[in-house]
Amino acid sequence: MGPENSGGVNVKSRRGLNLDRVVLLGRTFEEYVHYFGLNWETWRGRDLLDVASGVSSFCSEANLLGGRVTACDPIYAMPPEVLRPKCEEDLDHVLGSIGGLTVYRWEFYKNPAILRGYRERAFKKFLADFQVQPPGRYVRGSLPVLPFPDRQFELSLVSYFLFVYGDHFDLAFHRAALVELMRVTRCEARVYPLVTFEGEQCPYLDALRADPALGEFELEEIATDFEFLVGSNAYLRITRRSSC
Ligand SMILES: C[S@@+](CC[C@H](N)C(=O)[O-])C[C@H]1O[C@@H](n2cnc3c(N)ncnc32)[C@H](O)[C@@H]1O
Repeated sequence: MGPENSGGVNVKSRRGLNLDRVVLLGRTFEEYVHYFGLNWETWRGRDLLDVASGVSSFCSEANLLGGRVTACDPIYAMPPEVLRPKCEEDLDHVLGSIGGLTVYRWEFYKNPAILRGYRERAFKKFLADFQVQPPGRYVRGSLPVLPFPDRQFELSLVSYFLFVYGDHFDLAFHRAALVELMRVTRCEARVYPLVTFEGEQCPYLDALRADPALGEFELEEIATDFEFLVGSNAYLRITRRSSC
């Protein structure tokens, strides 16, 4: 096993992270608020979906703050005792590699130790809630087919899965994923970030904007004031051209 592949995650240095699979890193409620420019007063108490939610604590924290958030991810087929060591392993690998990379802006996190603190809080809060299994809160499911009826949610979020893993999932997957996301969504979906791990805009975006399969939707890039991965200071807002 070489230095670029120890313990299952292949982390090579180009300009950014090169991951050989989707990793189990989780973000906190605070980070989601920044990523998606989320005004919690607007969305609290409305039906929200977090897709590819993984070990993020957004769902757990949001529900404590009066939210009605459902989380959906394929990993929810696994029990917490299996997930915990995977979280720790992926966190160690990514944090061990990220410090020297030039595609990150450290204004918010300051240094890898603080970043690690966010990721640890996220997966620990997630695991504590997941262990309890609040009814209907953590649903096993994978894009591009979600186990929900049409228009169940007012707002759907996808953080750190679409676009950023553009090397792993092709344009057809992204098209099908966005169509499916909007099938289960009444008002709008937001996807973050829009760049790859190289800090470059994902090339699928332009194609998807012109794609007839998405013709009934408006795709807008909304700027935010949060940037860690270079160029990640925007999310994609998808709405129906006919109002929700
Ligand atoms: C990097 S994590 C992001 C977790 C969370 N959204 C966050 O930002 O903290 C990516 C997640 O995508 C999930 N995933 C992988 N394939 C998926 C698919 N086809 N549909 C939905 N989620 C998927 C993984 O299980 C993993 O939990």
